[in-house]
Amino acid sequence: MLVDVRHLCKAHPSPGGGKPVEILRDLNFQLEAGGTAAIVGPSGSGKSTLLNILAALDQPDSGEVRVNGLVPGELRGGELVDFRRRSVGVVFQMHHLLPQCTVLENVLAPSLADRRQARLNADSNAREILDALGLAHRLGHRPSELSGGERQRVSVARALAGAPRLLLADEPTGALDRANAQHLTGLLLELNRTRNVALLVVTHSRELAARMQQVWELVDGKLVQLP
Ligand SMILES: Nc1ncnc2c1ncn2[C@@H]1O[C@H](COP(=O)(O)OP(=O)(O)OP(=O)(O)O)[C@@H](O)[C@H]1O
Ligand SMILES: [Mg+2]
Repeated sequence: MLVDVRHLCKAHPSPGGGKPVEILRDLNFQLEAGGTAAIVGPSGSGKSTLLNILAALDQPDSGEVRVNGLVPGELRGGELVDFRRRSVGVVFQMHHLLPQCTVLENVLAPSLADRRQARLNADSNAREILDALGLAHRLGHRPSELSGGERQRVSVARALAGAPRLLLADEPTGALDRANAQHLTGLLLELNRTRNVALLVVTHSRELAARMQQVWELVDGKLVQLP
């Protein structure tokens, strides 16, 4: 199992300093290697909270979480760097691209500290991914010079630059018009097939959700698989 979550609980501190608010309550979820799943659910139900825990950006309060055989909350230092490249890639709700860097530099940013040969490999890999995402003619542009759809595709390329086993995408099509959303969905599914990267997308779009193998709804802190 690529993602295996059992009895996950997570509360966030309440802003007034009162009792913490329970967001995830005994949540269970599994995703096979190479599989695709969508998570839907109302705003504030905890979808981004779950993704952050899977990406080792937040800690669970209790329960078991395994991603690619590793426990995200226990990783430190170099293990964490490795995990963020080889195990998970993240496309955030906002694109978070570096404004002063070009498209190619944004995708290469995670490998800047690598040794020379690894950097050369990263460079050709980055160009290949950007080409597959239809961005070969935009390598030298800055994010401010791109359309919303192009920016979102650059953040997908950056997430996949380390060839992770799992792509976590939080509302990847949220800011896009219908045509661009369909285009990006098609590209994600193609990357799933050609690179065997599993997809876990959080979305409000029924259209995107329907194209994933499984659809789960987050309600009352739990995930329920929809037929
Ligand atoms: N760092 C935090 N501290 C306190 N409360 C938080 C924190 N992060 C999230 N929350 C709260 O936890 C709840 C779940 O937030 P989360 O971002 O996971 O929701 P979501 O399902 O992703 O919503 P949306 O669809 O609007 O993106 C919300 O009520 C939010 O206010
Ligand atoms: Mg969210």
